[in-house]
Amino acid sequence: MRAPFRNEPFMDFNNEWNNKLYDAALSGVEAELGQSYPLVIGGTKIHTERTVNSVNPSRKRQVIGVVSQADTELAEQAIQTAARAFESWKHTEPGERARYLFKAAAIMRRRKLEFSALMTLEAGKTRAEADADTAEAIDFMEFYAREMQRLSEPQPLTVHEEEENHLDYIPLGVGIVIPPWNFPLAIMAGMTTAAIVSGNTVVLKPASTTPVIAAKFVELLEEVSLPPGVVNFLPGPGQEVGDYLVDHPLTRFISFTGSRDVGLRIQERAAKTQPGQRWIKRVIAEMGGKDAIIVDNEADLDLAADAITASAFGFSGQKCSACSRAIVHKDVYDTVLQKVIERSKKLVIGSPSHAEAQVGPVIDDKAYRKILDYIEIGNSEGRLVLGGFPGDPEGYFIQPTIFADVDSTARISQEEIFGPVVAFTKAASFDEAIQFANNTDYGLTGAVISNNRAHLEQARRDFHVGNLYLNRKCTGALVGTHPFGGFNMSGTDSKAGGRDYLLLFTQPKVVSERF
Ligand code: NAD
Ligand code: ALA
Repeated sequence: MRAPFRNEPFMDFNNEWNNKLYDAALSGVEAELGQSYPLVIGGTKIHTERTVNSVNPSRKRQVIGVVSQADTELAEQAIQTAARAFESWKHTEPGERARYLFKAAAIMRRRKLEFSALMTLEAGKTRAEADADTAEAIDFMEFYAREMQRLSEPQPLTVHEEEENHLDYIPLGVGIVIPPWNFPLAIMAGMTTAAIVSGNTVVLKPASTTPVIAAKFVELLEEVSLPPGVVNFLPGPGQEVGDYLVDHPLTRFISFTGSRDVGLRIQERAAKTQPGQRWIKRVIAEMGGKDAIIVDNEADLDLAADAITASAFGFSGQKCSACSRAIVHKDVYDTVLQKVIERSKKLVIGSPSHAEAQVGPVIDDKAYRKILDYIEIGNSEGRLVLGGFPGDPEGYFIQPTIFADVDSTARISQEEIFGPVVAFTKAASFDEAIQFANNTDYGLTGAVISNNRAHLEQARRDFHVGNLYLNRKCTGALVGTHPFGGFNMSGTDSKAGGRDYLLLFTQPKVVSERF
């Protein structure tokens, strides 16, 4: 009998000793930079001629690893291998499948600092953000392992006097796992382990900018003796390899987390039946957000400013849950804006290798240019009150940026920027604030800061997002506590880290016998 699930505690970086441990972990990871990372298909390591350098976004010249790149031929090999492995993996007892996850979680917990330090270097995560990412990866494995145990117990059915009835959650087949780079360990590991603990085999195509952390996770799965072919590691160009995997007739499901455009492309392609395909492909797609924090006129304004600052600029705004819109009641608008400016001014921007850094770089040149373009657009749509410029050219740094007096229909109020940019919009009433908040194609997270009970109840009912937070920030969902996923163009609302999640990777089979 295992202890009930509980969230992995976070490290306290106000404690000097923990910072010393983190420094040592960074030195350890740095000593191993620049290694080559192969594809892994059926347990065989494949080094390709075509490689891509993964680089540190804080120090563009620092190579984290040299990563082999798949082509369509290798993608074919990976799918065929996963299909063969499925024939035995699907018969592995759910309890045994769960134990691979428990073991992987235990090792990751012991090597927590090493995984986090690698994310600081490869993804530009500050210590606290990287630690939370590793903790979430551990949580996903611990949670999904228990969930599979629960689903493999006898399921409640209405008793039929003359029959014995039984419902089993059986796996689907070969899944394609396509994670984003912004939670390069947690989301990647969560999507992968949910699929395999449910009895599926997968082809894992990691995000192009964070393949080394994914490769380290695949090494960990090897260390726990996961049978070869259950997880096949296939880094490669998103579109070339991604389209091939999605279109393949042996693909049974696609588990995707990333941008709206790519998610919709996958959805569309997966809907087209290919010659030889024997099922309807299932698409689990978690996509972008344009998340708002509403501040009411009766509210704790310091709490509001803390929530907006943390949600807008944590990990440089590169979270699907980030606050990119602050919608503030006119009575308190100037005060809240001023408080957020004061707090944001004090944020320390810099390489997250340094303990004091609170805002690191954005992920790559493409993101850097896109965000700066949006800042240019923001200059014509609002009043720049903070930031607006790049930082140290050694990395992809952009200052925390605030635009005031932005219309709720402006482009920077509607389009996902995915960077440290927040637009302030004034609302004449709480009703109008809710209306502005709902006026986007997305519906992922949102928050309301208010002391007015009627308004909080109104928000519960009318603020149309998958994860609504009242009187707190809109980032930082915890596995098991805040099942996470959004409405509308934010995705299929699959609620990762929730009790419905594994159902997406299984199909219930009912057997009824009369004696
Ligand atoms: P992205 O869409 O650019 O890439 C996501 C993944 O898709 C990567 O692995 C990429 O290589 C791959 N890809 C690219 N083209 C493909 C194709 N044609 N077929 C198959 N795969 C393809 O997104 P990103 O920049 O990695 O991540 C940021 C986005 O993810 C943001 O929009 C963010 O809001 C979203 N996100 C959503 C959630 C959520 O839970 N809703 C969580 C994290 C991130
Ligand atoms: N799950 C992440 C958060 O809640 C994206 O911030």
